[in-house]
Amino acid sequence: MAVIPGDGVGPEVVSASLPVLRAAAARAGARLDPVEFDWGGERYLRTGRAMPADGAEILRGFPAVLFGAVGRPDVPDHELVWGLIIGVRQALDLAVNVRPVQSWAGVRTVLREPDGVDLVIVRENTEGEYVGVGGRAHAATAHELGIEVAVHSRTAILRAARYAFDLARSRRGRVSLVTKSNALRHGYTLWDAVVAEVAAAYPDVECEQVLVDAMAVRLVQQPRDLDVLLCSNLFGDILSDLAAVLAGGMGMAPSANLLPDGDAPALFEPVHGSAPDIAGRGVANPVACMLSGAMLLDHVGLPVAGRIVRDAVATALRDPARHTPDLGGSATTKELAAEILAVVESST
Ligand code: NAI
Ligand code: MG
Repeated sequence: MAVIPGDGVGPEVVSASLPVLRAAAARAGARLDPVEFDWGGERYLRTGRAMPADGAEILRGFPAVLFGAVGRPDVPDHELVWGLIIGVRQALDLAVNVRPVQSWAGVRTVLREPDGVDLVIVRENTEGEYVGVGGRAHAATAHELGIEVAVHSRTAILRAARYAFDLARSRRGRVSLVTKSNALRHGYTLWDAVVAEVAAAYPDVECEQVLVDAMAVRLVQQPRDLDVLLCSNLFGDILSDLAAVLAGGMGMAPSANLLPDGDAPALFEPVHGSAPDIAGRGVANPVACMLSGAMLLDHVGLPVAGRIVRDAVATALRDPARHTPDLGGSATTKELAAEILAVVESST
C-alpha cells in the first residue's frame, strides 16, 4: 500500500497507526509493505508542488492508499488541499466518500442518548460545489467577485446512490437522502429525482428525503434512528464533522474514498485535517487514522485484520486513562497507540 503522512498531525497519527495495522495484518497471516511518499506542504514549499505532476498515476500502482492530512498555516489552504487530496480524489475519480460514525463504550460525548449512534455518511466525492468550476474577476476593485458553480450530474448521483443503497442493505436498511431542493431548484431536484429512481430498485430499503438544515437538527436530537445518510459533496463534508462530534470528536472519525466497481486504488484517511493547533505536541488522537486503516484492511481482503484493529481500539478506549486530551484524558498519541498495539498483539 502507499502511505502519504502529509502535514501537521498527519505524520503523527500515521506513524502511530502503521505498527497496529501491520500487527493486525500479521495476525491474519498477511504482510503489509507500506511505501511512503513525502507529499504535502513541506514539498510544496521546496518544489512548488504538493505532489509530483503524475502523483495520481503513481498511486495507481497500489491497491490502496493511507493518507494522513494536508495543510499548513504558511501556505494558502486551497493550494495544498487542491494540490493533493482533492486533486487525487478527482484524478482517480474516487466517486464516493464513506464516513462511518459510531459510539464507543468509555468515550463521553455531547449526546444525551445513552445508546449512542451508528450511522454512515455516503458523500458524493467529485462534484457539487467542489467540482472546481468558476472564476474570479475584477481583482482589487470595489466590484471584485468570485463565482463557484455547483455541478450535479446524473452519473455522479447514481454512483453515490447505488453505493448508499447497497450499504444500507448490509446494515439497518434505511437511507436518508440529504438535499436542499426547496431552495436550490436545479441540482438538488435532480438529486431527488435520480435517488427516487434508485430507491424504486431497492424495495427492501426504506428511503426518506430530508432537507440539510433539518438533518443538522436530527443529528443532534435523534441520531440513533439514522442509518445511511446520502449527501452531496458539500453537505456531506459539513455534516460529517458534526456527526464526528457525536462519536467523540474529529480524532475518532475515519473515512474511505473509493470508486465502486472501478479500477482505481481506494484512499483511506481520517476525516480531520492537519490540526496545526496541536501538531508537534504528540497529543493527537490516532484512532481516526487507525480506523481508516481498518477500513483499508477490509478493502484489501483482510476483514479479519480490520476487525482486530476495531476490537483493539474498542478495548483500549474503555479505559479513560488511555484517552488523549481531545477525549478528556491525558495520554499521548504514543501511549494510546502502544496500548492498542498491545491489545492487537495479544489478540487470538
Ligand atoms: P482540523 O480537522 O485539522 O482541526 C479541527 C479541530 O479538531 C482542531 O481543534 C484540532 O485540534 C482537532 N483535531 C483534529 N484532528 C485531531 C486529532 N487527531 N486528535 C485530536 N484533535 C484533533 O481542521 P481545521 O483546523 O479546519 O484545518 C486545519 C488544516 O487542515 C487546514 O490547513 C485545512 O485546510 C486542513 N484540512 C485538511 C484536510 C485533509 O487533509 N483531508 C481536511 C480538513 C482540513
Ligand atoms: Mg471536512
